[in-house]
Amino acid sequence: MASEFKLAPSILSADFSDLRSALKICEEGGAHWIHIDVMDNQFVPNLTLGPPIVKKLRPHSSQYFDVHMMVVEPEKLVESFADAGADGITFHIEASDNPKAVIDLIHAAGKDAGLSIKPATPLSEIEPFLDLIDILLVMSVEPGFGGQGFVNGSAERIQKLRKRLNERGLSDRVTLVVDGGVKLHNAKEVLDAGADVLVAGSEVFESENPIETIKSFYRIGNP
Ligand code: DX5
Ligand code: ZN
Repeated sequence: MASEFKLAPSILSADFSDLRSALKICEEGGAHWIHIDVMDNQFVPNLTLGPPIVKKLRPHSSQYFDVHMMVVEPEKLVESFADAGADGITFHIEASDNPKAVIDLIHAAGKDAGLSIKPATPLSEIEPFLDLIDILLVMSVEPGFGGQGFVNGSAERIQKLRKRLNERGLSDRVTLVVDGGVKLHNAKEVLDAGADVLVAGSEVFESENPIETIKSFYRIGNP
């Protein structure tokens, strides 16, 4: 692992009518990041939220806002999410013909640039961009919905990407985030494979005591 473990609870599984409480839960549990899933009903068959909601949430949290854009034409949203208070802005390699241009836009907006890859996309597609990004978000489910099972073979993909980052001397610069199907029962396996940050939605927000669940993740991540 490149750095201290961090959890990014995904508010996709929180109560959308009470997101302030979700932020408070994350703070009280000690979560470092807030994972915000943006879906456009084009790149994925689901629709969630956009910059105006992020802007309204911003004053209620000092955590790192990790915006995960599952959208076509990501370049059109970079500036709005930057203005809304995102800290990191991640887009999908499958959604862009010119990933470098989008990365440059994110950096020009003064934000951390993230690139995400779906489970079936060859890792070779993302490799040319590893030295340009701050966040590598490896999907371990098909993007679109919370509560799915961790896709078989994801741990091997994480291992391969970690190995690449190490070989290229990028492990200190790039944060490897794993998103989808991450639960308390497989958190250690995912961390051992090479994740720095775990995204967890349903496991946190559908648990009886989300604050305790966040703390349990940290006990696994920082034994
Ligand atoms: C799925 C999203 C994930 C989702 C994870 O498209 O990108 O961030 O919230 O949810 P769980 O942890 O329930 O798999
Ligand atoms: Zn996500």
